[in-house]
Amino acid sequence: MKCRICSTEITEFMTFGKMPIANGFLEKNQFEDEYFFELSPAFCDECKTLQIVEQPEPDRMFHGEYAFFTRTSNSMVAHFGEYARWVQENYLEDVDQFVVELGSNDGAMLENFAKKDIRHLGVEPSGNVAEEARKYGVNSVVDFFGAELAGKVLEEYGSADVIMAANVMCHIPDLLSVGEGAAKLLKPKGVLIFEDPYLGDVIEKTSYDQLYDEHVYVFSATSVANIFGRHGFELIDVLPQTTHGGSMRYVLAKKGQREVSPAVSKQLTHEKNLGLEKLETYEQFRKNCERNRDDLVRILKEKKAEGARVVGYAATSKSTTVLNYCSIGSDLIEYISDTTPIKQGKFCPGSHILVKAYSKFKENYPDYAVLFAWNHDQEIMANETEYKDAGGKWILFVPEVSIKS
Ligand code: TMP
Ligand code: ZN
Repeated sequence: MKCRICSTEITEFMTFGKMPIANGFLEKNQFEDEYFFELSPAFCDECKTLQIVEQPEPDRMFHGEYAFFTRTSNSMVAHFGEYARWVQENYLEDVDQFVVELGSNDGAMLENFAKKDIRHLGVEPSGNVAEEARKYGVNSVVDFFGAELAGKVLEEYGSADVIMAANVMCHIPDLLSVGEGAAKLLKPKGVLIFEDPYLGDVIEKTSYDQLYDEHVYVFSATSVANIFGRHGFELIDVLPQTTHGGSMRYVLAKKGQREVSPAVSKQLTHEKNLGLEKLETYEQFRKNCERNRDDLVRILKEKKAEGARVVGYAATSKSTTVLNYCSIGSDLIEYISDTTPIKQGKFCPGSHILVKAYSKFKENYPDYAVLFAWNHDQEIMANETEYKDAGGKWILFVPEVSIKS
């Protein structure tokens, strides 16, 4: 397999085995036709990009019934408010403002610009979430972003000050087309800003569940500089974020157009120290994943043997990797509680554990809840004091398997 960015042969350092579509919640009558692919990450020693070898066709993942809505998390909505304000303060010129967001979902980010009458456009391939965005005054085009669409947007709207994305860039296999499109669509001083789960955190926390069908890449500052450097961009700033269990915001500008923050070289040095450029680091990561899997399965089996009731908390996309890699089914987890209506009453991809409405969790607390939405741990634990007071415990698996009361 060749690197999607630089065409160098890449090294597949492990496999998580057969995986279904992470957001492919399904009905019983769909079990037989369920689609699986091999989930194996690989590392490119040339451009230093971590990527999955095989990715399902985009329209299997992003379509009119896409199950992920940004607004289900209040802390993410607040985060996007902050992100939008920061972009406006730092990167919007006074005249002829135009902001484009890739993967604008239900408009949780762009509504902040829409409210201020700032010209904006969301590019969102899943029609159902884009429709939801309309309710918030957000204008979207239902499509994938690339060089071709950038040409059309340029013609219709003119050039952009900012192209931004959050938890989207790592979903797009053809980043070369994105780089070409961004270079075309941006004003000379325009910036490309995006944030995604950060490779440094994934390696340090063994948060292997960041790898699933939609996440074709896990970026580092090193890899981002290499990828977008191919289209004349340079990394001018990096800002660590706490979202999604540890993310990084990258700011790229056309070479020489803007000052480069000292944070960039600091981050690149940090990545060298972490060993993100070396294959051995990924081999160690594989061993860490195996240990984490064995520990989790052991705890779940122990609890079952003790006769305890164990459920899952939040049927996240990430949970699909955990459940399938660890071969955990409804024998070990009774059901998974989730607040997203479209998932409720359906079964989790691959593991076929039933998803129940959150009210079912509240009505009859289990002894243990596996926290699949571990990236929202603070928000959730603050909300669940009643569960805790009733003696409910959490099973955590990031950065290592543990029980918390
Ligand atoms: P993700 O943002 O980690 O991908 O997962 C979001 C899913 O978690 C979504 O289906 C809603 C669910 N969820 C809950 O069920 N309860 C919660 O308190 C939170 C924060 C999320
Ligand atoms: Zn490469």
